[in-house]
Amino acid sequence: MRITINQIKGMKRKGEKITMLTSYDYSTAKIVDEIGIPLILVGDSLGMVVLGYETPIPVTMEIMLHHTKAVVRGAKQAMIVGDMPFMTYHTNVDDALRNAARFIQEAGAQAIKLEGGVTVAEKVRRIVECGIPVMGHIGLTPQSINQMGGFRVQGRSPEAAVKMLKDAQALEEAGAFAVVLETVPAPLATLISQKISIPTIGIGAGVGCDGQVQVINDILGSYTDFVPKHAKQYAHLADVMSTAITEYYNEVKAGTFPTDQQSFSMNESALAGLK
Ligand code: KIV
Repeated sequence: MRITINQIKGMKRKGEKITMLTSYDYSTAKIVDEIGIPLILVGDSLGMVVLGYETPIPVTMEIMLHHTKAVVRGAKQAMIVGDMPFMTYHTNVDDALRNAARFIQEAGAQAIKLEGGVTVAEKVRRIVECGIPVMGHIGLTPQSINQMGGFRVQGRSPEAAVKMLKDAQALEEAGAFAVVLETVPAPLATLISQKISIPTIGIGAGVGCDGQVQVINDILGSYTDFVPKHAKQYAHLADVMSTAITEYYNEVKAGTFPTDQQSFSMNESALAGLK
C-alpha cells in the first residue's frame, strides 16, 4: 500500500518532517523508494536536468507521462506526484482536470502538482472534487520564469509576503493536501507553515517548513550547469561518472576490457568445422 495524503497530513500534525525528492526514471525511483522517502515528485525540472533545456517550459504532457510511468514502476511505497507542465492547466478548468486525470489514469501517479495560488484555486478545487490529490506550488514558480525575470527570491516586500500568504491559504481552502514553497525567505516560509494546516514543503525556504524537496541531480552533483544556493551536494556523481567512464575508455583502447570474466566460452570442437 502506498503512502496516502492522510499520512502526509498526519506527519505535519505530529511534527514529523516530510522528505520529498524528485526522480525521473525507474532505477533512481527504486533507490529513493527503498530508502523510505514518502513523496517522489516527477518534476518538470526534468526538462533542465534530464533533457538539457534552459527552463521547464518546453516540457509537454507526453514527456511527463513517459517519465512518470517509469517512476511508478520503480517505486512501490512512495506517493508519486506528477508535475503538470506549462500551459496544461492554465487555459480552463476542463483542460486542467483532463490533464490531471491523465497523470492518474495513464501514468499511475497518485497526485499532481501545479504552480500558482489564488489564480489556480478554482482549478485545484475542481480537480480535488474529482478525487485527484493536488499539491500546490508558490513562491518561485519556474514556469513563470519569463514573467518573474529570473530565478529570484520571492516574497521579500510586505505586499509580496501578504500575497504569498493569501496564495497559500487559497490553496488550502481549495483542498490542496500540501504546498511547495520555493525560494522564499525563511521567516516568511515559517510563518506560512504556522498559518496553514496543510504541510508546506520547502525548497530554498528554510528549515521552518514542514518538509523539504530537492531536485535529485542537485543533491547528487550530477547536474553541473549550475548549483542552486538551496542545494547541498551530498555527492559529486559527475566526478564519479567521469572517472569511471574514463577508465572504461582507456581499457577499451588498451584492449584490457573485456577480460575472460566478462566473456563467454564455447566448446572448441564446435568451432572445428569452421576452422
Ligand atoms: O519541477 C520540480 O522539480 C519542482 C521542484 C523544484 C519543487 O517543481
